[in-house]
Amino acid sequence: MSSKFSTFICQNCGSETSQYFGKCLNCNEWNTIVEERKSPRYKSANIKENKKSKLFNEISSEKTARFTSGFKEFDRVLGGGIVPGSVVLLGGEPGIGKSTIVLQTAGKISLKEKVLYITAEESLEQVKIRWERLNQNCIDLKIYAETNLSLILEEIKIVKPSFAIIDSIQAIHNDDMGSAPGSVSQVRACSSDLQNLAKENNIALLIIGHVTKDGSLAGPKTLEHLVDVVINFEGDKISSHRLLRSVKNRFGSTFEIGIFEMLEKGLSEIKNPSSIFTNKENISGVTTIITNEGSRPFAVDIQALVNKTFYSNPRRTTTGISINRLHQILAVIEKHLGIKLSQYDCYVATGGGFEINDPSSDLGVALSILSSLNNIPPIKNCSFIGELGLSGQVRQSNNLRPKIEEAVRLGIKNILVPRSKYDLQNNFENLIEIKEISNISEAVDYALAKN
Ligand code: TYD
Ligand code: MG
Repeated sequence: MSSKFSTFICQNCGSETSQYFGKCLNCNEWNTIVEERKSPRYKSANIKENKKSKLFNEISSEKTARFTSGFKEFDRVLGGGIVPGSVVLLGGEPGIGKSTIVLQTAGKISLKEKVLYITAEESLEQVKIRWERLNQNCIDLKIYAETNLSLILEEIKIVKPSFAIIDSIQAIHNDDMGSAPGSVSQVRACSSDLQNLAKENNIALLIIGHVTKDGSLAGPKTLEHLVDVVINFEGDKISSHRLLRSVKNRFGSTFEIGIFEMLEKGLSEIKNPSSIFTNKENISGVTTIITNEGSRPFAVDIQALVNKTFYSNPRRTTTGISINRLHQILAVIEKHLGIKLSQYDCYVATGGGFEINDPSSDLGVALSILSSLNNIPPIKNCSFIGELGLSGQVRQSNNLRPKIEEAVRLGIKNILVPRSKYDLQNNFENLIEIKEISNISEAVDYALAKN
């Protein structure tokens, strides 16, 4: 029963209702609604009365000089380093390596700044064992094992670090609230108290959060609004590659990624990502594309397998690109090249399962499919860039020049690009042969017929 002292909160999406439902009306999940006691503190948000408006010209930007996380890849995702007083939320599945990356970062930052690492999930000894594996140096690094929010806030006030880490937000609790640690209202209240403290004292705060099974942060959307930067740490546990992906950033661009490898001695940066997502063999069904994720272009292989189907509905599966994109590309091939793909199963996967959002990968996907279908390898040492329009034309790609530069750096000799009004070939002289095309059939004639 509802009462004026309780509220019902969905533990999946954070939406609130005044009564219990078996199914959340907002996110449609079953059995996620839990009764939680209303916290009176919640209504009186911590608004500082002594804060007055200031003349814009009088505000100095000195405070915003960033400091490095010690990892170039991490700094790039953060938009160029850690902003003092900012709150960063690092999300990821359990076991992906969140505690490892933050401990490494804590060590590196502590060489220059004061760092406090608050571990609510592991004991001091466990952290020490991890630290010994990492084989790193530290100077001003303090570790504090505690789950009680008020003690944590006190400790932060006493230590006054420049950089503090909470590992993890789901494990800490505020005693004033009746609900269990990790519940939406606990996560929300604890984060907002921590955030206020960080902003008041100009402490950069990194909060670790676990993600739910569908990949969103537990205790979710409300928390994302509260913080300045949201970063996801991704990768499957079988492969050793890990990606940092920025999904929200008040101080830099989003969709920036950082690539790491989990080794015996912790995470190490991968400075040349093209090398891990490509395989320079020339076989049918595989093409290399240059994609743009964040501010950086790099090469990824697209693999396709096309087989005659035994089902009434042909199978279509993708890894790394969206299934809707595949359907669209298949429709374009069917309509504009007159190939009956409805009789074939089609599987498409990116190198290493790397998730590609750049639409200029379309051309590579289409050519991989056609290459597998005809069992003809694509033209040697070639890379493909271009978005496929619904009428079969190859559309302009953003950041074409940096993509061609990356291809040159990798030693690729030919590249197919959308026809443009700039004289690209002149810019690259004889470093690479640039073939400009305007539609899919031109691309097929060039890439698949020459062999
Ligand atoms: P961890 O950082 O504890 O994950 P999270 O905090 O996200 O839950 O990482 C745990 C995994 O990382 C574990 O499977 C072991 C592996 N690992 C290494 O491979 N090398 C290392 O040096 C460390 C510290 C962990
Ligand atoms: Mg952990």
